[in-house]
Amino acid sequence: MKTLFINIKELLQVREIPVEKVSGNEMKLLPKIDHAYLLIENNLIIDFGPMVNCPSLPNAKVIDATDRVILPTWVDSHTHIVYAGNRIQEFVDRINGLSYEEIASRGGGILNSAKKLNETSEEELYEQSEVRLQEIMQQGTGAVEIKSGYGLTVEGELKMLRVIKQLKANYPIAIKATFLGAHAFPIEFKENHSGYLKLLIDEMLPKIAAENLADYIDAFLETGYFSIEETEMIMEAGKKYGLIPKIHVNQFTAIGGIKTCVENGALTVDHLEIITDEDILALQNSQTMPVALPSCSYFISIPYTPARKIIDAGLPLALATDYNPGTTPSGNMNFVVATACIKMKMTPEEAINAATINGAYAMGISATHGSISKGKRANLIITQPINNYYELPYSFGTNLIEKVMIEGQFI
Ligand code: NIG
Ligand code: FE
Repeated sequence: MKTLFINIKELLQVREIPVEKVSGNEMKLLPKIDHAYLLIENNLIIDFGPMVNCPSLPNAKVIDATDRVILPTWVDSHTHIVYAGNRIQEFVDRINGLSYEEIASRGGGILNSAKKLNETSEEELYEQSEVRLQEIMQQGTGAVEIKSGYGLTVEGELKMLRVIKQLKANYPIAIKATFLGAHAFPIEFKENHSGYLKLLIDEMLPKIAAENLADYIDAFLETGYFSIEETEMIMEAGKKYGLIPKIHVNQFTAIGGIKTCVENGALTVDHLEIITDEDILALQNSQTMPVALPSCSYFISIPYTPARKIIDAGLPLALATDYNPGTTPSGNMNFVVATACIKMKMTPEEAINAATINGAYAMGISATHGSISKGKRANLIITQPINNYYELPYSFGTNLIEKVMIEGQFI
């Protein structure tokens, strides 16, 4: 079955020669074709070009995209969309003056979500999470990474990862699963860190590997959470099972963790709201992708990741939502792209590169996702009639998406 889009006003992120990521000044270039056609067969992109070269295909389904922009779907490389309940009360507590860290130290935060999750059945957890997955697909996300980390018990972590596996089986969107058992120390292990690490490494990891439930391993490397040494132990243990690290680091404090992540072959380091010159140096000449999460900064009023400092140092940058009940109850990548432009001074070209091809790299799927290239997945955002792609971040509060195609199907 072939679908031919014709008269596309702007076809964005066209890569004849596919790249796995873009860095530094390359991020300023967003290759596009004006007045273009795009041909899809089954779930793949098979051809594209300017309208003057458009083939005539009597058997294809033709869709006229006059005045519309088409771009690859967003790749959201960092989420926690499998969770139980919500943390609305903490939101109100923050408005009334408490900080994220104060709430956490009173037993709120991640431990609050863990309590709720352990009281929720796998079936109920699936149902709650499925609603969020459907929501983000409608908002233009065509690939998503999902973390565990609200179980913090053997059963709870397995339950989360099994829900992710079910979502993977039931939805067309590409999903990668990350084991985040090291999200926080449960209360009973507050004074017994080595006991929790033992549970994580000797019990959780082997079970997860036996059921093939995770692709990546994560830890919250942060003052008051997991230390550099503890995170290193977790990364090393994960690698024995083939789980590559993707690490939460430098959200509130810079303690030298990025260098350790790079040395341990981390695919990504995520958050980086606070970043030092030494951190930048550690990332240069590495294969590790920095990932910024601006809607988290927006929601809990912490600094935005200094994108200019990172990109101007020649580094790549990816953007993701961090969709979770505590710091970012939103999975809207359109808002992330707009906020990156408005608050982080990323150009629209940089932000769209960061949310597509660099996001795909951050999920390990840039061979199949993140650009309009022959042979890649037919994952497309078709906009409403708009002036040009600058309107996407400009009209930040308006839904400009008319249709989303994932694996060749409109959803
Ligand atoms: O990425 N920083 C650590 N983890 C999540 C938030 C966890 C929570 O508050 O539930 C984050 O922001
Ligand atoms: Fe996160």
